[in-house]
Amino acid sequence: MVSLLRLRRQRDIFRFLMSVDNLSFPEAVRWVAEKYSIALPVFVARPEESDKDRQQILDATQATEAFYQNVLRAEPEAQEARRYLQQRGLREEVIEKFGIGYAPSGGGRLIGYLTEQGFAAELLEKAGLAKKSELGKGYYDSFRRRIIFPIKDVRGKTLAFGGRVMDDGVPKYLNSPETVIYSKSRHLFGLCFAREAIREQNHAILVEGYLDCIIPFQEGVRNIVASLGTSLTQGQVRLLGRYTKNVVVNYDPDTAGVNAMRRSLELFLEEGFRVNVLRLPDGLDPDAFVRRSGAQEYRRSMKQCEPYLEFIADEALKDAGAGARSRLNAVNAVLPILAKVPDRVERLEFVSRISSG
Ligand code: GTP
Ligand code: MN
Repeated sequence: MVSLLRLRRQRDIFRFLMSVDNLSFPEAVRWVAEKYSIALPVFVARPEESDKDRQQILDATQATEAFYQNVLRAEPEAQEARRYLQQRGLREEVIEKFGIGYAPSGGGRLIGYLTEQGFAAELLEKAGLAKKSELGKGYYDSFRRRIIFPIKDVRGKTLAFGGRVMDDGVPKYLNSPETVIYSKSRHLFGLCFAREAIREQNHAILVEGYLDCIIPFQEGVRNIVASLGTSLTQGQVRLLGRYTKNVVVNYDPDTAGVNAMRRSLELFLEEGFRVNVLRLPDGLDPDAFVRRSGAQEYRRSMKQCEPYLEFIADEALKDAGAGARSRLNAVNAVLPILAKVPDRVERLEFVSRISSG
């Protein structure tokens, strides 16, 4: 039996697990203890009150994923959802792998199911699964009539959900709120499925959307993750940095996408990444491109993507027009970002390249 003192001394391992796997300290201790068959002193094994909440919220979230999956598989109401997924080109095995499900209408199905299993409605509210009704004292399901995409941590534990409408309703995607188990700035969609391939290939592809990640993955592009929306955070960049320092950013080619790209690329540079930018033809996002042209063509276009600084310079040159002055403008546009490239040699090389046209 390991003494508590020895456990404390090894607290770095626990800190590591806490940040990478989103565990609380006692959870990290329990995880290590289980893995190495170490008997824990009782007072470490007994969770504190807030910790109990956390564990219950995690449990309720796993149960919710299973519930939505069952609805998608088995219920007549989900027929439209099954058809929708089929239309978007998702096959059975990828639906299973990503844990995709369907939140039924009715407003109380999930709450009914979970309270029967002993979860209190207040807890479900804290988990972002239920909302308090404004009229009475009751609660209603947060997700209704939506395709459900579970958002998981690196170990595959489900922490949150994104729900998509099947028509033109708004919002197109509804996401879980921040909870004690989920902070959207600290996770990347699909990382638990992609991390081995990312490590093996020492290279990751970053996309924006759920299906931009799932469809290429289904077609064999396994080193792909999604930031879910446009503002990448330092936490997400550091998380990816545990697996590789090489990334291709493949955001939507619209203006919002280009601006988002600039910001995220600065973050990558600050963390010492080598960054390339991939812009797909015809304004296609990765999902649409792979469905149109296939994964092989997608991989091929990956080889032609441009280094980040060239992307920024190109954008600047486009704005500035032709001639020597435009080169100067381009250099000026690049300089503030160039300052973030940690490697001095790389920095100098680039300046000489761009200033000589
Ligand atoms: P599909 O139409 O399903 O292919 O979605 P998309 O990924 O192509 O959509 P879009 O490019 O508009 O958005 C990219 C990503 O931003 C989505 O996958 C979501 O993660 C996120 N997003 C888009 N719309 C919304 C929204 O209305 N609310 C929230 N919270 N996130 C959204
Ligand atoms: Mn899309």
